[in-house]
Amino acid sequence: MSIAGVKGMNDILPAETPLWQELEATARRVFSFYGFREIRTPIVEKTELFCRSIGETTDIVEKEMYTFEDRNGQSLTLRPEGTAPVMRSYIQHRMHAVDQVAKLFYCGPMFRYERPQKGRYRQFHQIGAEVIGIDDPKIDAQVLAMLLHYFDSIGLLDVELQINSLGCPQCRPDYRDNLIRFIEQRLDQLCDDCRRRYVTNPLRVLDCKVPGCLAATAEASSVLDHLCSDCEEHFRQVRLHLESLRLPFSVNPRMVRGLDYYTKTTFELVTRHLGAQSAVAAGGRYDGLIRQLGGPDLPGIGFAMGVERLALLKGTDGLKPEGPEIFIAALGEDAAREAFRLMSLLQRNGIRAEMDYRCGSLKSQLRRADKLQARRVLILGEDELGRGSAPLRDMNDGSQRDIRLDPKGLNLLNELKSNA
Ligand code: HAM
Repeated sequence: MSIAGVKGMNDILPAETPLWQELEATARRVFSFYGFREIRTPIVEKTELFCRSIGETTDIVEKEMYTFEDRNGQSLTLRPEGTAPVMRSYIQHRMHAVDQVAKLFYCGPMFRYERPQKGRYRQFHQIGAEVIGIDDPKIDAQVLAMLLHYFDSIGLLDVELQINSLGCPQCRPDYRDNLIRFIEQRLDQLCDDCRRRYVTNPLRVLDCKVPGCLAATAEASSVLDHLCSDCEEHFRQVRLHLESLRLPFSVNPRMVRGLDYYTKTTFELVTRHLGAQSAVAAGGRYDGLIRQLGGPDLPGIGFAMGVERLALLKGTDGLKPEGPEIFIAALGEDAAREAFRLMSLLQRNGIRAEMDYRCGSLKSQLRRADKLQARRVLILGEDELGRGSAPLRDMNDGSQRDIRLDPKGLNLLNELKSNA
């Protein structure tokens, strides 16, 4: 019996990789305009890192982490997200000693034991960016400008930016208490999950998709009505900067994020085209996180995009792999040897060249050339070897011209380079 891959973990097949490469290359290009540099952290971290940053009572930490003990009995976890590892690395390598401001981005796989469905997987990929060391609202707007610039650049225009503010340790406790009191009066209408966690994490109740919970919390007061003056002013400035950059957005006061580290600005880029998985990108400010992880008291803000979701939105249509520039068909053993030598030489010189290694009949070799969508075919038989030239056929218009064969394949190489 054959062995299938792990549920919720996908192969990214050759037909899809050109799109993935484009999505990553565009991020590298766009992010570089804004001064971001790449960081790569391990896929595995100490479990404690995620418990302390994402929060013990979040869905991710409570039920979605791939946690295991290594042979030494140390608890390790496959990273469910990229922010905490980047902060861990920033602190560990004392990057703040060189420059407190760091603009970092990352691409790579993340792991969450969620129920797989379209756009939601157990291994998925994020492209993320983080700015450490700037608390000015201008950087909030700048990070959002970069995110929208990226979406423009990959041609995904039908997305909506929603923003919110979740307050800070000054004002959130007051809102939390208020919310707990509100929820307490409606406990009988809530799902089991919400009844269990409303005291430890009441904001999550606002995010519950169960219809009873949605109805029960419809009248709950908004976090925006409980912001302290500092948070209110910050949020006002962010909105002003977004307006001055002419970036369209809406305020969604019910947006609560699934990770506990957020303070002040939070945001999601949502789409109507992915069913229940509407967020293609999300993030926010996390001003207390670095100190909480044992680092200096520095602010931070960032986002991550789900690459699978970007790929689903883009679709792989129209991305045809590039066929070989030349296919060398060979007839007979000597010709096959010469074809192999020529093909290798062309490849070394940056030409996409192919042949049929088994050298079947001419008909089957031409069929293969056609299947690979080769642009030209060189036909090499004993006669051609004898007279020192061979016909090069253009597969588009059927035209043919003789190419003189020289030991270094220079004639062929020139012909291909001049008509690339
Ligand atoms: P998040 O909202 O958990 O935030 O994930 C960010 C994005 O990753 C989502 O909007 C979605 O596109 C994608 N994503 C999340 N889970 C899955 C999944 N199971 N399958 C497919 N795609 C998924 C974070 O991870 C934060 N670290 C973002 C951040 C960076 N905040 C500040 N800096």
